[in-house]
Amino acid sequence: MRDRDCVGFLQWALPRLGLRWPGYRKVRGTVCKRVGRRLRALGLVDLDAYRDVLAADPREWECLETFCRIPISRFWRDRGVFERLGREVLPALAAEAPARGERLVRCWSIGCASGEEAYSLRILWREEVQPAFPGIEISILGTDVESTMIARAEAACYGEGSLKDLPSRWRERAFDRDGGAFHLMPGLKEGVVFRLQDIREEQPDGPFDLILCRNLVFTYFEEGLQAAVLGRLDRRLRAGGYLVIGSHERLPDDAPSYAPLDGLPVYRKRADGEW
Ligand SMILES: C[S@@+](CC[C@H](N)C(=O)[O-])C[C@H]1O[C@@H](n2cnc3c(N)ncnc32)[C@H](O)[C@@H]1O
Repeated sequence: MRDRDCVGFLQWALPRLGLRWPGYRKVRGTVCKRVGRRLRALGLVDLDAYRDVLAADPREWECLETFCRIPISRFWRDRGVFERLGREVLPALAAEAPARGERLVRCWSIGCASGEEAYSLRILWREEVQPAFPGIEISILGTDVESTMIARAEAACYGEGSLKDLPSRWRERAFDRDGGAFHLMPGLKEGVVFRLQDIREEQPDGPFDLILCRNLVFTYFEEGLQAAVLGRLDRRLRAGGYLVIGSHERLPDDAPSYAPLDGLPVYRKRADGEW
């Protein structure tokens, strides 16, 4: 399949799935490869024939949607964000918890892939925050629409490439190495749970103190869906809590109750009476 043909096909199909082409421009190779495989499996000669299949069978759209899920992630992705979470955001949340009668900082990682983001937070908590707040615990929920991702997150075993950005001193302290495989130490799974969930249809109850919604909703979903999902996240993030998005993403324009921390894709939600 020629790139030009696949681009034309995606520009036609993605909006029909509530997805946006600009988000896929750079990662289209992955999607095109999967679509090409599907064509061969169905014995189709070209994308026009595949459009006919889509027109005749609505279930094929569900299949196409699965081809559009991009699984890329790694530990400590966007180092500046994690540094700021460790230096400022998590300590602030831990310090505020007792005033609310709580001993827990609650976090949600949306589109958690194989758990890289959730466990990055967990490692950060143990290494940098917990010593100063011994009475406070962290709970982290990771949700993803792909069952294979959830299974990998629960297994918590990674290749070296997934860890390349994690500070090396923590790599030693957080993983047991077995040849090329790095197994997360069992203690670091405490407080971390994963759940199969499609963010378009379902959300956990909350409330959360920190929500990470990176490199999914605000990259791949079309604008109307972005705003709808943001509304649902907003109802689950407590006032004064933090929302983190991807470093190349921006929030929809009608998000006035969120203020960025200087230059970072980390937003604090206005507390009652602020600003
Ligand atoms: C590009 S990865 C981002 C992983 C991580 N948040 C990060 O920034 O490194 C996107 C993840 O979102 C998941 N995903 C795709 N569509 C989803 C949906 N509708 N609901 C929940 N997760 C979804 C994919 O399976 C994939 O694991």
